[in-house]
Amino acid sequence: MPKDAQGHMIPGLHSPRLTVPAAIERPFYVDVKDFDETGFGDTYDDEEIERIRESSRIAAGALDAIAAEIRPGITTDHIDRVGHDYMVSHGAYPSTLGYSGFQKSLCTSVNEVICHGIPDDTVLEEGDIVNVDVTAFKNGMHGDTNRTFFVGEVSQEARDLVDRTLEATLRGIRAAKPGRQVSVIGRTIEKYAKRFGYSSVREYTGHGVGRQFHSGLIIPHYDDPERFTDVIEENMVFTVEPMLTIGSPRWTTWQDGWTVTTADRSLTAQFEHTIVIHADGAEILTGSLVENS
Ligand code: MF3
Ligand code: CO
Ligand code: CO
Repeated sequence: MPKDAQGHMIPGLHSPRLTVPAAIERPFYVDVKDFDETGFGDTYDDEEIERIRESSRIAAGALDAIAAEIRPGITTDHIDRVGHDYMVSHGAYPSTLGYSGFQKSLCTSVNEVICHGIPDDTVLEEGDIVNVDVTAFKNGMHGDTNRTFFVGEVSQEARDLVDRTLEATLRGIRAAKPGRQVSVIGRTIEKYAKRFGYSSVREYTGHGVGRQFHSGLIIPHYDDPERFTDVIEENMVFTVEPMLTIGSPRWTTWQDGWTVTTADRSLTAQFEHTIVIHADGAEILTGSLVENS
């Protein structure tokens, strides 16, 4: 029962929480009610970057494994299971599992769901688009990435939105250079989105990632140079993860406290990479491990 009579997404049934072998290191926040993950810095030495690289590769590899499974008829729970098994079999803890009450190993956000959708018994249908957001924790480091997938054949409108959201993400990443304010990333993304009449969601942002899941550093996906004055430095690690909508950027949250949808139920898409800043620009740490996916 994935949709109501109007074709809008509605909550499904939640399956029991998956388990992680005790031998796999857990982030400190798992099942902790109130915690502060900010204040641990956003720059890393080469050895630390290697560790973030490994976590990032595992997250990207999980998305590759999931990409091979996407088709009409699968449930978002199946996506969760495939991602969970991939991370665990690579020695990583799924960072979302037990994070602030979240009970699944990744997020699945279908059609008008902007982000933080909870995997359940929702069955994907031909024409849907589904974003899958995976974060892996290993050797004390998190790597965070998401992609939006097509379920079977989708409308030209959906295809354009998804393709342009990926392009906006890559343009934002290319704008990230040492010495520039983080606002340059948002400006680049929003300017590109506006060409097509799309909006960029404001309240959910990119973030510093590595030692912590969300380090406190905010990476905006819209233009506000007065507010986002942090300067990008060499060896910084953070995500770029714009959410673009066909309609209004306004949003609302489901009763579950997590699922964020567009207020007008218009279609929305997202891509996310974890990047590290070098002297000459950004390196993507969460690129696909296989060609053409
Ligand atoms: N991976 C998401 C991000 O990009 C965060 C998900 S937190 C969860 O920041 F609790 F919703 F899973
Ligand atoms: Co993410
Ligand atoms: Co993120």
